[in-house]
Amino acid sequence: MEILKLGWRINAAFHLRDAAFMRQRLQNENCRFQLQSLVDLAVGIFTCSMPIRLRRFEKLMKTLTPIFLGGLIAIRCVAANPTFTVDATRPAANVSPMLYGLMTEEINHSYDGGLYAELIRNRAFLDDKATAAHWSAVSGSGAQVSLTLEPTNGFNDQLTASLRLEVTGASKNQPAGVANDGYWGIPVLPHNRYHASLLARAESGFAGPLVVSIVSEDGRTVYASGKTSALGPQWGRFDLTLKTGEVAPTTNARLQITLDRPGTVRLGFVSLFPPTWNGRPNGLRKDLMQMLVDLNPKFLRFPGGNYVEGDTIDTRFDWKKTIGPIEERHGHPCPWGYRSTDGLGLLEFLEWCEDMKAEPVLAVYAGYSLRGVHVNPGPDLEPFVQEALEEIEYLIGDRHTIWGSRRIKDGHPAPFKLRYVEIGNEDWFDRSKSYDARFAQFHDAIKARYPQLKLISTVGNDQPESGRVHTRKPDVTDEHYYRSTDEFLQTSPEYARKYDRSGPEIFVGEWAAHEDAKIKPWDAAARQQPPTPSLKAALGDAAFMTAMERNSDLIKMQCYAPLLVNVNPGARQWRPDLIGYDALSAFGSPSYYAIQMFSRNLGDQILSVQGAETAVQGSATRDSRTGEIFIKLVNPGPAAEPLRVDLKGFVSLASRGTAFTLAGNPEDTNSILEPRKVIPLLTKVAQVKPDFLYTVPPHSIVVLKLKARP
Ligand code: AHR
Repeated sequence: MEILKLGWRINAAFHLRDAAFMRQRLQNENCRFQLQSLVDLAVGIFTCSMPIRLRRFEKLMKTLTPIFLGGLIAIRCVAANPTFTVDATRPAANVSPMLYGLMTEEINHSYDGGLYAELIRNRAFLDDKATAAHWSAVSGSGAQVSLTLEPTNGFNDQLTASLRLEVTGASKNQPAGVANDGYWGIPVLPHNRYHASLLARAESGFAGPLVVSIVSEDGRTVYASGKTSALGPQWGRFDLTLKTGEVAPTTNARLQITLDRPGTVRLGFVSLFPPTWNGRPNGLRKDLMQMLVDLNPKFLRFPGGNYVEGDTIDTRFDWKKTIGPIEERHGHPCPWGYRSTDGLGLLEFLEWCEDMKAEPVLAVYAGYSLRGVHVNPGPDLEPFVQEALEEIEYLIGDRHTIWGSRRIKDGHPAPFKLRYVEIGNEDWFDRSKSYDARFAQFHDAIKARYPQLKLISTVGNDQPESGRVHTRKPDVTDEHYYRSTDEFLQTSPEYARKYDRSGPEIFVGEWAAHEDAKIKPWDAAARQQPPTPSLKAALGDAAFMTAMERNSDLIKMQCYAPLLVNVNPGARQWRPDLIGYDALSAFGSPSYYAIQMFSRNLGDQILSVQGAETAVQGSATRDSRTGEIFIKLVNPGPAAEPLRVDLKGFVSLASRGTAFTLAGNPEDTNSILEPRKVIPLLTKVAQVKPDFLYTVPPHSIVVLKLKARP
């Protein structure tokens, strides 16, 4: 037995990376031969010490050997299962309390046509200078209207355009006007209250009212309707509540604004909001917010990503243009090929954090834009450094500061909590190699005024040493990993092991697994694939998350990217994305559920783990207050993996636990039509002991939740 145990210990010393090889070896070896030679050895030792009774003893042994051998084979077969050891004798380190967060930017219609609950597309007629995109005439059968886009005749110097409706034929039964098709439809739900607001004026001869209705696409069914008060020749603001009745949910609807007699009207802005999360005016979509809150995020990295940089300096995320009343936000072209209304602006980002009880991780523009332009460090960069200082003041300044007072005026008296500021985004793309000097300039100015803030460099350990910041020590560096599942499975066992523990903390600010190594997220071919990832990708994600958990003494924060995708044709620029939606419904990808399983079962202490002879990758953590133990196991293979779970150093282990399991065919994914095809199942785990057998299903991600005395 001792010999067996010794052999086992030697085997157990192999690290995860050798697991697959060891398992193969074990299968190839003839277990019986191995055992027989151990028995021979034991018999040999015994017989040598008893020469006189040799013959009698040999006879006895002939009788006993089969029994002995049978017993040993049984022992060997329990022990032959690969082992996953969790060691609680000495917690390896503390889990970062900020480990799980979210990253967001305007991409894939994440905000406009996504989380930002506005339902009217091209609400200020600014999307296209030539035509009133997404607006169409309501006419026919005697109703006549001509529509003219007036690009320079708008409500103010920000909403510079308007739409002129000249109605020449209309009656109560045949109204004429204009309709908006929304972001791939307008969502109609039963017993819903919508808030419509309009900026409008009329030419003489017409004084209103305007009829504002949500109708079916063919205009025949009216779901909700209301009327404005009288219009005058000056711009006026009109607010209405539209209520639906008992209707079947649909996205086949549009918003209509009509006149029931001839007249001429100008529209400068048309908005329609459904009920929002926490009832915030200009707020966020409820179903998506619920899904985000369910991920238990500790921070939100915003506003990018590429969105903070813009294609050019002029089209960067210019935060001052995104605050104040929405009628004073012109919007700007976003680098992902469409225009952003800036309706979801800086204050809305911050309130979004507040509503999720998450901290902002604020990325400031750092003088580099995507088309390769950069601002020279020194005096040229100074205005941008000031812009960042003012932005920080907007977040945390009090009423005695200019930008703190502005935040108060905008409706948020209390300063926000802010600890992390990121300087730019992916500045390794800057071929001028100016990032080190630009970072230094931002660093010195921000630290001088706000020494408590931690500053994040956007060039991390995944980039060549030469591109990193050397003249200052960043508090944190940001690493991005868009890798295939196979790459994540291969690299995760060793990930971050060799990093210098005294170096900057690490923020993995963007990462996601894709299924096919040949199709990168930004390739055109990726747009032919489903927008959200399959279970195969989630297996790669989960393997990487176990690596980040094992190393969360150093990996302080991490977030999947991109977070959101509107699944309608033409809406997306990138895949895979975590959460998909259309105008009416939303679903989480398998990766979404994997992250949810991990982030909601975390604890505060990292426990060291060792896998032997298995392809299963894993991590373990513990809640030091409650004694809960969280063991995460990822089986990427097609066969069930019976694991001997060896729990060392746990006091009073409860014999019952639970398991969350996400499993299925690797190609399975969720969609609008099948939103819950791949979801975690909760089961009970019985007979938990310091050494017990647990079978990890094929292609699965498992979180075992066990309990011991704290
Ligand atoms: O997440 C999509 C993009 O990937 C981000 O905008 C950018 O930072 C990265 O290259």
